[in-house]
Amino acid sequence: MSQPNILLLGPPGAGKGTQSSNIVEEYGVDHVTTGDALRSNKGMDISDLDVEYDTPGGFMDAGELVPDEVVNEIVKTALQEADGYVLDGYPRNLDQAKYLDEITELDVVALLEVPREELVERLTGRRICDECGTNYHVEFSPPEEAGVCDKCGGELIQRDDDTEETVRERLNVFDENTQPVIDHYDIRDELVRIDGEGAPDEVWEELHAAIEDEV
Ligand code: AP5
Ligand code: MG
Ligand code: ZN
Repeated sequence: MSQPNILLLGPPGAGKGTQSSNIVEEYGVDHVTTGDALRSNKGMDISDLDVEYDTPGGFMDAGELVPDEVVNEIVKTALQEADGYVLDGYPRNLDQAKYLDEITELDVVALLEVPREELVERLTGRRICDECGTNYHVEFSPPEEAGVCDKCGGELIQRDDDTEETVRERLNVFDENTQPVIDHYDIRDELVRIDGEGAPDEVWEELHAAIEDEV
């Protein structure tokens, strides 16, 4: 069969990015992530949409969702170019889920489940390499030398939306907008729930087995 199309759902900090790296390595698929795509285009002029902020960054730093018109287009283009993918950070509301239904077919839909208190700790302690994008955590997966990337020597920085206040808002937005997306797949019996609370390797073991079951 061709490369699998995998959707990875989960709240902010659930480990979507971390586990997507494992999927990419194992299956050689593209990592399609709206969060990273938007971060590279934070200053894009979207004033013609006549929405609350003039750039994606305005929404992101407030912990709110960037308008569907912007993200739908990013996803459509990326999926057209991919031979198999892991989709991370999309869909985040019911309209996006319906749009996705129209443009692709999914082989696996997995949800990473992690308790709320743990999410806040993971996000406020996350550090990212400015050069290569590798994820760290000051406590759970620290670099050998504080502030320096093990892989490339780049500087480790904190994401602008990883402050405690914005993290709480992102979690509220998830409950309100993205929970219905989970139900959308659950009702159709397409959802596989993964315990996302263990160590990254344990989570990967369970996720990998679930993917192998479906493809
Ligand atoms: P996005 O970048 O997608 O952020 P998110 O969904 O909030 O998720 P995160 O990237 O914060 O978490 P993650 O699940 O990837 O966890 P990670 O692996 O890094 O979106 C950002 C913003 O962009 C949104 O708020 C919105 O404004 C906009 N946006 C994006 N998509 C959109 C869309 N479709 N529509 C509208 N707007 C959109 O792990 C987190 C930390 O925990 C790391 O430090 C990691 O090292 C650690 N960790 C991971 N796994 C474990 C583990 N098992 N045990 C202990 N620590 C762990
Ligand atoms: Mg991520
Ligand atoms: Zn690096």
